[in-house]
Amino acid sequence: MTDPRDTPAKPAKSPALKSHGRLQARASLTPRSLMDDPGPLAGAWTARIVTLFPGAFPGVLSESLTGRALTEGRWALETIDLREFGEGKHRNVDDTPAGGGAGMVLRADIVAKALDRALEGAPPSRGRWPVIYLSPRGRRFDQAMARDFARADGITMLCGRFEGVDERVLEDYEVLEVSLGDFVMTGGEIAAQAMIDATVRLLPGVLGNMASTEDESHSNGLLEHPQYTRPAEWRGRKIPEVLTSGNHGAVETWRREQSERLTRERRPDLWAAHQARGQDD
Ligand SMILES: C[S@@+](CC[C@H](N)C(=O)[O-])C[C@H]1O[C@@H](n2cnc3c(N)ncnc32)[C@H](O)[C@@H]1O
Repeated sequence: MTDPRDTPAKPAKSPALKSHGRLQARASLTPRSLMDDPGPLAGAWTARIVTLFPGAFPGVLSESLTGRALTEGRWALETIDLREFGEGKHRNVDDTPAGGGAGMVLRADIVAKALDRALEGAPPSRGRWPVIYLSPRGRRFDQAMARDFARADGITMLCGRFEGVDERVLEDYEVLEVSLGDFVMTGGEIAAQAMIDATVRLLPGVLGNMASTEDESHSNGLLEHPQYTRPAEWRGRKIPEVLTSGNHGAVETWRREQSERLTRERRPDLWAAHQARGQDD
């Protein structure tokens, strides 16, 4: 299959930027507001967030590895303030649900204006630039989806509030609804940050040791084996002997067995899928 990034998404400012594909000229911990600066993307994987609360970003993404990668320009974050597209003195963005009922619904025409802004300069292909709506009724986010997002050039994320978003705008913009899990939060911002975190750590150069994303939970369909570090004995509990034996083959076997045991015990759904895959091979 062709890597969607084989074709340049947009003209790069300099060939060096595009060929490395990740370095951005204006790296910052502060998300750029597209309201002030709709400047061209510079080749880094970019998350564009449509939200009523741009101040919620970068939030926890400014910490640790994702924060460092953001300042290094390995990825970029831009917010689009939905309120700026609101109408009237109070910049209203919502209205009562058609057919009655509690709460308010974000208006299609207002959201569309914000999405238009968020899609400026982005490739039209949804494979290269997914457009998602954080939604409890969406497809459940998982590691495979994080990998797909990381392979794209960037992503637009629409954070809902209140009762959600007028259905018509989701249809019209071919928006994919994605859920963080089977629970309901007050807004999409936390879900967006969780999904960005899971995606950004898969981008080249963000984690020091890429091997660590290959072995961890969900990468190979199994949960990760238990981890230990010093002290060798703590409160009478010893590190399993095999891990200090120096026998790499035995360590690998032990880890694999533990990984399978944990998956079987904790996630029968994953275990069944793993076994089914094994039979297909
Ligand atoms: C109170 S919720 C709306 C729930 C909606 N009325 C429903 O029942 O599906 C407000 C917003 O929070 C976000 N949200 C809530 N739970 C979420 C979840 N599990 N995953 C992703 N986004 C969520 C969505 O953006 C949603 O529009």
